[in-house]
Order: sequence, then C-alpha cells, then structure tokens
Amino acid sequence: MWRKMLLMLGACAVLTSCQGSQKEEQKTSIRIGISLYRSDDTFINNIRSQLEEKAKEYERRRGIKVILDIQDAKGSQNTQNNQAERFISLGCDVLCINPVDRMDATLIIDKAMTAQVPVVFFNRQPVEEDMDRWDQLYYVGVDAKETAVLQGRIVAELYGRQPEAVDLNGDGVVSYVLLEGESSHQDSLIRTEWSIQTLKDGKVPIEKIAGGIANWERSQASALMEQWLLAYPDTIELVVSNNDDMALGAIDALNRAGIEGMNVVGIDGTTPGLEALKNGKLLGTVCADKEIYAGAILELAASCALGEEPPEEYPLTDGTYYWAPQEIIVSEEGFLKEN
Ligand code: BGC
Repeated sequence: MWRKMLLMLGACAVLTSCQGSQKEEQKTSIRIGISLYRSDDTFINNIRSQLEEKAKEYERRRGIKVILDIQDAKGSQNTQNNQAERFISLGCDVLCINPVDRMDATLIIDKAMTAQVPVVFFNRQPVEEDMDRWDQLYYVGVDAKETAVLQGRIVAELYGRQPEAVDLNGDGVVSYVLLEGESSHQDSLIRTEWSIQTLKDGKVPIEKIAGGIANWERSQASALMEQWLLAYPDTIELVVSNNDDMALGAIDALNRAGIEGMNVVGIDGTTPGLEALKNGKLLGTVCADKEIYAGAILELAASCALGEEPPEEYPLTDGTYYWAPQEIIVSEEGFLKEN
C-alpha cells in the first residue's frame, strides 16, 4: 500500500515538472494585462509609450511575442478591479497595475493570488502590508525623497551661485508658492517635505506665500496660480511644483498675466516639460529615466510570465522594489537668466 502511494506520488511529481518545463519550452508568446490609473496623465502616457517600445525590443531580442493589453481605469478603482479580473479570465500571464487608489490594492492582490498571476505595480505604491502578502508582487517607481532633494538642489545651487537670480526683488527673502499633487499619493507628501527641507538646508531664505493641491493637473494648477497672482501681486518669486504638468499650469498663468522671469521648478521631465525647459520657461526638472523605468516594468513582467528569475539589470530592493534612476535637468537659459 505504502509503496503504491509513494510510486503514485513519484509519478505525479514527474508529471508536474515535465508539464512545467514543457510549458516553458512552448511559450512563444506572453500576454501582459496593463491597467493605467488615468491614461490622460502626461507622465503615465510617457511611460506607456516607452512600455510599447520596450515590448517591441523584447520581442526582437528574445523571439517571444509580447501581447500588451492596455486599459484605462479612468480614475475608478472599481473599473480597475474589473479590468484586473478580466485580464485574469483572458489568461494574462502577468498584470502590470498602476493603482488608482494605492491604499486599496487588496482586491486585485486577492484575485491575482487565487489565480497565481504575478503583479508588477508601478508609480503609485501600494502599502507595505499589501506588498508583503505574496512573493509574486513587485513595485517599480522612483525614490520620492531622492526626487525632492534633487529638485531642491536646482534652486539651492542657483541661489548659492547667483542669489539675485532667485531673490528677484533683492529683499533677502525668497517668496515661494507650492503646487502639490494628489494628497493620497506617496510622491506628493514626500516631495513637498523634502524639496522645502533641501532649500532650507541649502540656506535659501525661503518664505511660503501660498500652497495648494492641484492633483498633478495643469488646468487646476493654472487656476490656483492665477488666484495667487491676484491675491499677492508683485510678491511671488519662485514656484515649486510636485510635477511638470502643474509647473506648466503655473507658467500658463504667468503668461496670461504677462509676467516674465519668475523661477518655476518641476519634476518628471515629460515631453512638454522638457519643451518648456528648452524655451527657458522652466528653470529645471528632475527626470526619471523613462526608458529604464519602463524597461524594468516590462522585463520584470516578462520574467514573471516565463517563470524566470527577475532580470539582473534591474536589481530589486528586498526582492520586491525597483527604484529607477533620476537626474536633474536644468536649462542653460534658466541658469543664465538675467533678472
Ligand atoms: C508623477 C506625476 C503623475 C503621478 C501619477 C507622479 O509620480 O510625478 O506627474 O501625475 O505620478 O500617479
């Protein structure tokens, strides 16, 4: 009896591993389900284009077809949950999720765990308790504190070298306004705190005039800036923005008011952000390397889909997190701007 059972178990084990290797050998295509929190977000759009490029590059390099099913959750967690469920029912090998509500990734994780479909989250970081639930959950993003310190340095370095380029009215105080992203986003909270701290550490004599949440959006930031320009005429010297889109909104308001020479700093290095930088409208931005960012998402997802080890070129912190590198980009015009 025992012998028979052991033999049967042995046979099962052989069958399972054979099936496994057969499955891996046969895999000539992988299907990746991607849900974006909002496809009209400029930064997310830039990442999406890079993801499509990286998928093509991967296909050429590995000879494996990569099918990307990209969906827009349009700011609804409910829609995103349904999209994740649909991806799983369609047989996606892996999910890439840009969560709508980073505090509410539980349902997607539940479904993925039940179906044994790994998940690569990106840009909006689920809470640690969620990420710790399964070893097939990953996150790709940027280190928000690093971003903020780099942003603060753009202004601090200019002030150190040429104080009159930042303290525009020469009264010994740099009066600034602050544009913040969504209040629940990890990047807004940390960026706000550390950009300002870095200005203080860099001995820039700052004074806050006003600040507000513009939810990463150009139009909301533009409306806020317009109000501040009316409420505090001839006072504001610096705009610190949690991202490029809101910085561009502030620049829109400055253009409408016919004000020139005010320093505006952003984050992201989006396509329109870099354009504004070239035109000398934006003093500087902090740019995540989007090729590497998207490369990490795609390669990590593909390795999950194929049951391979995570790619060595994208080293993971704690086996779970990949932090994309970022750099300061400052316009020459911005640096040399005369007041
Ligand atoms: C980016 C913003 C973007 C947001 C979306 C942030 O990391 O800097 O531009 O709107 O992510 O989640």
